[in-house]
Amino acid sequence: MGALPDRTPNACFSTVPDKGIMDFEKQFGAHHYERIHMVVRRARGCWLFDEKGNRYLDCLAAYSAANTGHHHPAIAGAVIQALQGEFASVLSNVVYTDPLGLFLARAAGFAPQLAERFGNNGNKVLPKNGGVESVETAIKTMRYYGYRQKGILDGNQEIIVFHNSFHGRTISVISFSTTEKYRRGFGPLTPGFVSVAFGDLVAVEKAINANTCGILVEPMQGEGGIKIPPNGFLKGLRRLADENDLLLVCDEIQVGMGRTGKKFCFEHEEIVPDGVILGKALSGGLVPLSVFITNARIMDLVFSKGSDGSTFGGYPLACVAGSAALEVFEKERLAMRSATKGAQLKQKILEIAARSPHVKEVRGQGLFIGIEVNNGNAMEFCRKLLNHKIIVNDSHGHTIRISPPLIINDHEIDFLVKGLESVLVDEKGQDANL
Ligand SMILES: Cc1ncc(COP(=O)(O)O)c(C=O)c1O
Repeated sequence: MGALPDRTPNACFSTVPDKGIMDFEKQFGAHHYERIHMVVRRARGCWLFDEKGNRYLDCLAAYSAANTGHHHPAIAGAVIQALQGEFASVLSNVVYTDPLGLFLARAAGFAPQLAERFGNNGNKVLPKNGGVESVETAIKTMRYYGYRQKGILDGNQEIIVFHNSFHGRTISVISFSTTEKYRRGFGPLTPGFVSVAFGDLVAVEKAINANTCGILVEPMQGEGGIKIPPNGFLKGLRRLADENDLLLVCDEIQVGMGRTGKKFCFEHEEIVPDGVILGKALSGGLVPLSVFITNARIMDLVFSKGSDGSTFGGYPLACVAGSAALEVFEKERLAMRSATKGAQLKQKILEIAARSPHVKEVRGQGLFIGIEVNNGNAMEFCRKLLNHKIIVNDSHGHTIRISPPLIINDHEIDFLVKGLESVLVDEKGQDANL
């Protein structure tokens, strides 16, 4: 084990060699992630750099957190300015700050009028520090709505969720996961969730009873294997929510903000939900920031003084990054870019798939593309792609997840396609060390 460094060089954070960094993590960190055998020293745009200056194309983009590319100059610049201008640090929530006010106004207008049936009141935004925290805010909202508005006995509220969903790792959220390894040994679990098959409207209808207060859905499943629901599914959920007075909440943490070729993934079915959860790319991948957005009337019904809060939720630095990232998203038309580049890339992947003995199915919208492999072991191909200086990982074990930053250019797409051709058709890759 090397000694801790006493200086921070300019070009990267430390001069500790890769092996030392890995040893520190192994000795002092929880082993809750399977890591690729690589230490990243620098990240810029779509590229990650190792100790020797080798560059790797980032086709994972931190599971959509780096949609705007790494260290986008406008977002990084805003953060630096906030730090240097002394308007970045966390303040007690008893005072107002201009970064929060401006961010809330911008984020509220970023979504269409949510929960339209409650009136055209505008949206309100509740900020937190990471996706799962905002999922919790959404769960609280649906439950309180059921209690106050529908007269459900407090404690009896039920929310409909979906098999193979992924919404994060708090106790309440893992309680309704259908993935055993997320739950085992962490009981007692939180009751009040009913899980049904993703895409099955009949099952949703059957699950609705007098205690049902909401439906929580990913408009396209990310961790569940890059799964697009059957046509009409989201429209059907909208209809069932309206008929049964339920709140329909879309978790757009991974698939929102242009990832699937639309600003919001729910736009593919032209529905408007009652609440939206955003995270990851919301702050340009520089600082943690997430939000729950809903109709102002619902937000005011559910949250009153003391009923929610968070020390860092909506603190100035995160809000400065958030406002800058939303501006970049609009200015660079990232949703449209994702649709165009995604269609181009998917076409090339389909051509490779037609020549490959390994590909079972290619699925995707925008720059969110899954390649399901016949042997069910997508990680085997991800390791081979690392030899071609491409970073991807699997989704649900069987699917290679392709989700590069939305700023990816034609040259970078060609680089990716060449790598995919090699491992899926030519089989020239050798296993990289994981
Ligand atoms: C759809 C979805 N919801 C929620 C989360 C949890 O977000 P976080 O890891 O920021 O808590 C994720 C993370 O991957 C996600 O993909």
